[in-house]
Amino acid sequence: MDDLRDKYLGLIAAAGDEAALEDLRVQAVGKKGEISLKMRELGKMSPEERQTAGPALNALKDEINSALSAKKVALEDAALDERLRGERLDVTLPGRGRRTGTIHPISQVTEEVTAIFADMGFSVAEGPQIDTDWYNFDALNIPGHHPARAEMDTFYMHRAEGDNRPPHVLRTHTSPVQIRSMEKHGAPIRVIAPGRVYRADYDQTHTPMFHQVEGLAIDKDISMANLKWVLEEFVKAYFEVDDVELRFRASHFPFTEPSAEVDIRCSWEGGTLKVGEGDDWLEILGSGMVHPKVLQNAGVDPNEWQGFAFGMGIDRIAMLKYGIPDLRAFFDSDLRWLRHYGFAALDVPTLHAGLS
Ligand code: PHE
Repeated sequence: MDDLRDKYLGLIAAAGDEAALEDLRVQAVGKKGEISLKMRELGKMSPEERQTAGPALNALKDEINSALSAKKVALEDAALDERLRGERLDVTLPGRGRRTGTIHPISQVTEEVTAIFADMGFSVAEGPQIDTDWYNFDALNIPGHHPARAEMDTFYMHRAEGDNRPPHVLRTHTSPVQIRSMEKHGAPIRVIAPGRVYRADYDQTHTPMFHQVEGLAIDKDISMANLKWVLEEFVKAYFEVDDVELRFRASHFPFTEPSAEVDIRCSWEGGTLKVGEGDDWLEILGSGMVHPKVLQNAGVDPNEWQGFAFGMGIDRIAMLKYGIPDLRAFFDSDLRWLRHYGFAALDVPTLHAGLS
């Protein structure tokens, strides 16, 4: 028994890894191991012999088992030390700064516009991007046969056979929010409604999805003069200058009468867009006095109330202010573009702290 002890304790001490240790365990105390076989021989012994050999064999088995587990722990520790040495981390290496994201120019400009109109008493209204053709067209005095429907390059939602819900469209402008806001709040009302709009159109200044901000002011005595003042105040505050030139052009929209489109003087010289100089004009908005039929469709009595509305291209005025020549790049998600034109996340535009 002493021989057995010396043999296995020696082998365990010399085992180089956990696999070798497992082999030794099987050899010594496994079912057919040397010590287990010895235990089976107990049966053949006389009761006296058994009385000394039994406990001694059990003690030897315990001793070998604890040597095995002690060695196992030692091998695990050694393996961990080895790994830690191999994967040593040099904490004195200079760090690689995490890139912070930026605010997209469209979000920034939407905030700027909201801050300016909030200062003039406008609150923010919203409507769905998928709307019925009633809200997008009919309620705005654009009947089914009207050429404005075709001109808008409308995206119609697919309708399954037998579906008799009203036809839905991707809204082609933010004007349906005029109707929804008046239905909900009646008159007087003063709101802006920024959001996404959709038209099938694609070139340097058109993308199939773009952004507008609708304005609506209804009260007892609101006139075109108020519209002009509000727009001029807006343009001055937005471009942070006193001398931006606006051009009001007589125009036509089914939902306003009279109507005016407003252009802003700019130049595209050398591919860079500059505002306030040059011989080019960029149309930034449509506007006018809300048509009596539109008021009526939204449940507001046109004999009592009147006011103006406008719809401005957010992307357009973002291009102008920040000198971004191609509208399509807004929606390419090119990280280099976003880092170049994006805004610091915590610089929230306000009129007193600065817009841009
Ligand atoms: N909805 C018009 C457009 O998208 C703009 C507009 C809004 C014109 C409100 C007049 C009044 O072109």
